[in-house]
Amino acid sequence: MSKFQALTLDRVALRFGPFQALDDFSLTIRAGEFVSLLGPSGCGKSTALNCLSGLLKISSGAITLDDRRIDVLPPERRGFGMVFQNYALFPHLSVRRNVAFGLEMRKVPKAEVEQRVERALATVRLANQIDKLPGQLSGGQQQRVAIARAVAIEPPLVLMDEPLSNLDAKLRLELRHEIKRLHHALGLTTIYVTHDQDEALSLSDRIVVMRDGRIQQQGAPEALYNAPDNLYVARFMGYRNAFPVSMDRATAVVGQGPGAMRFDGLAAPSGGQAASLAFRPDDVKLASTGIAAEVAQVEYCGQQWLVDLRVADGTHITMETHERVAMGEQVKFSVAPERIRLFADAYVPEAG
Ligand SMILES: Nc1ncnc2c1ncn2[C@@H]1O[C@H](COP(=O)(O)OP(=O)(O)OP(=O)(O)O)[C@@H](O)[C@H]1O
Ligand SMILES: [Mg+2]
Repeated sequence: MSKFQALTLDRVALRFGPFQALDDFSLTIRAGEFVSLLGPSGCGKSTALNCLSGLLKISSGAITLDDRRIDVLPPERRGFGMVFQNYALFPHLSVRRNVAFGLEMRKVPKAEVEQRVERALATVRLANQIDKLPGQLSGGQQQRVAIARAVAIEPPLVLMDEPLSNLDAKLRLELRHEIKRLHHALGLTTIYVTHDQDEALSLSDRIVVMRDGRIQQQGAPEALYNAPDNLYVARFMGYRNAFPVSMDRATAVVGQGPGAMRFDGLAAPSGGQAASLAFRPDDVKLASTGIAAEVAQVEYCGQQWLVDLRVADGTHITMETHERVAMGEQVKFSVAPERIRLFADAYVPEAG
């Protein structure tokens, strides 16, 4: 399978018995794009990826690479590179042989295999580990071998299913940079599955937020971050302060009675009545006038503090601030009206 312009999923559905794991899933990925599928456990991310790779057969719809139907092809004829969460390296084969495997399967001439393996390992900065066994490498190094193996076959498309989730925080960050660098250096087209908002935001040209096998919203990271379509997407974009709301003209009222919080100067959401409201911790600002609250908890995060504020009626607000506050301190805060999002969808206590 060679170069292509676009990969298209057209109304793809997949059922496991009566269970609909993917439904009406339509998406176009252009050559060179980095697209992330983002969503909670069980929303169908791996299922979507496995439909692309050919490991799962779709129930209806079509997958096309330019004008060619590919959902009818077996995985090996699609020839996509795969990177999984758990490395999936052959433990008894050296790093060199692991990376060579896919090329040998494709009957690439020996001398060329040699060259491409060395090039792929140099790209992931593992040239000096070429004769080790996977068990002699760190988790991050093993995952880099898995990435080298996927890119060595020079696939039209690389599919990655939570490749960093087994790594510790520092390695995760390092390898994230590495994946981004490789994507640009090799001009890859990548589809990347994650449930980590930061990963999706930092890597992607486009993010696809999924829920229960369906697409909730797709767009550039900035677009989703600044203008999520609904409360579900907002929560994935870090809008940790979310509440049911009643509107009093342009004022949103959260809570009841004298302790209710009021946010003024808001415009109703497109598509009707506001049912919920959300804003991010970094949009909560300490102010001389505003809503009164008590500092209930302070967590130091290096660059800033994550502060739990309790307002009069007992509601909690999460604030990220560079100003130091003390537990028990009485403060006031405000949120700029343009940073507050109103949604027509009902508030649900916890993101699924
Ligand atoms: N072989 C199967 N038979 C029946 N149901 C399945 C099968 N594989 C997956 N499912 C169901 O399909 C849904 C989507 O699963 P999938 O593995 O795609 O989720 P995911 O988004 O990748 O989640 P995670 O983040 O936990 O990996 C789940 O509810 C799961 O239970
Ligand atoms: Mg999965």
